[in-house]
Amino acid sequence: MKKADHVLVTGGAGFIGAHTVVELLQAGFKVTVVDNLERSDHKIVEGIEAITKTKVDFHKIDCLNYGSLDSLFAQNEFSSVIHFAAFKSVNESVVEPVNYYKNNIGSLVTMLEVMKKHQVNDLIFSSSCTVYGQPDSIPVDETAPFKRAESPYGATKQMCERILEDAATVGFRVISLRYFNPIGAHESALIGELPIGVPNNLVPYVTQTAAGLRAKLTVFGSDYNTPDGSCVRDYIHVVDVATAHVKAITFLNKQTATNLFEAFNLGTGVGVSVLELVKKFIDVTGINVAYTIGPRRPGDVEKVYGNPQKIDKAFGWKTKYSLGESLLHAWNWEKKIRNK
Ligand code: WQD
Repeated sequence: MKKADHVLVTGGAGFIGAHTVVELLQAGFKVTVVDNLERSDHKIVEGIEAITKTKVDFHKIDCLNYGSLDSLFAQNEFSSVIHFAAFKSVNESVVEPVNYYKNNIGSLVTMLEVMKKHQVNDLIFSSSCTVYGQPDSIPVDETAPFKRAESPYGATKQMCERILEDAATVGFRVISLRYFNPIGAHESALIGELPIGVPNNLVPYVTQTAAGLRAKLTVFGSDYNTPDGSCVRDYIHVVDVATAHVKAITFLNKQTATNLFEAFNLGTGVGVSVLELVKKFIDVTGINVAYTIGPRRPGDVEKVYGNPQKIDKAFGWKTKYSLGESLLHAWNWEKKIRNK
């Protein structure tokens, strides 16, 4: 196996990580997965194995643990790293900011130290549209200045990007993918999102309400300056997000530059309100979702959706799935895990 084919995926049992591992394996990459399983489940690794019919090289490692990562790097010849491992809840980060800074920044810095020691220079980083704060104009493109992040979560992603820009001046080659709102699940319904406890994110809350686990959805805010008063986001199918990572690795492998930092939006370019999403879910599944209007949620931006032209031009990447398909796949996964 060529060194250029061995990708280390951190957080590979998580929602986006797992779907990316599937796409990498199906594209012929050799993959090693690490995850501390604190907010994920080994069942997802089994799901990856069922889809790809490949045994996954899995290691239960926390990315804050330098020693464990160091040994793993010593035993393997990684060509690149995709670093998903991080906390991702906007509202939890408002309640537990220090934890977010420690985990999200600490794990990245630890990873960079280990990569430097083992001369692995190529990194794909999970960034977020939250780096923009509430942008002045939307669809937002990559040249938009970072506004003050609305949440500690967003601030960690801004800080991580700054760290990576600096690292890229001393030999690292970095692609930062700024995700908008990944939703859905693999078409096979063998992997998907596994929220722990009450979901923070909209789509798992909708699917759990449809499945009868929650009495009703609360729509956070109806007085925003948007067409129907609810927040607007750019929802993107998780498999489309995953395939962009395969394109990003392929792109990095072709680059000859020794220093590189490029950030790309990973969204559809279409803004959808909370109420529109709920209506679409009811339309495509035929299942009613009871909802009530509640107060605004701290840390939320009013509206954000991304301009995906840069990534399209650089990688030849386009989204494949519609909002309706994304919601249907999320529902199929919910039914699967509830044995419905
Ligand atoms: C979406 C909308 C809520 C739950 C996510 C990720 C974050 C980052 C950005 C990539 C908001 C509303 C939600 C509910 C609701 N992605 N909502 N009732 O906050 O945009 O953040 O995308 O890095 O990691 O978490 O996503 O799904 O939580 O909320 O009304 O019960 O749904 O107010 O407008 P968010 P979300």
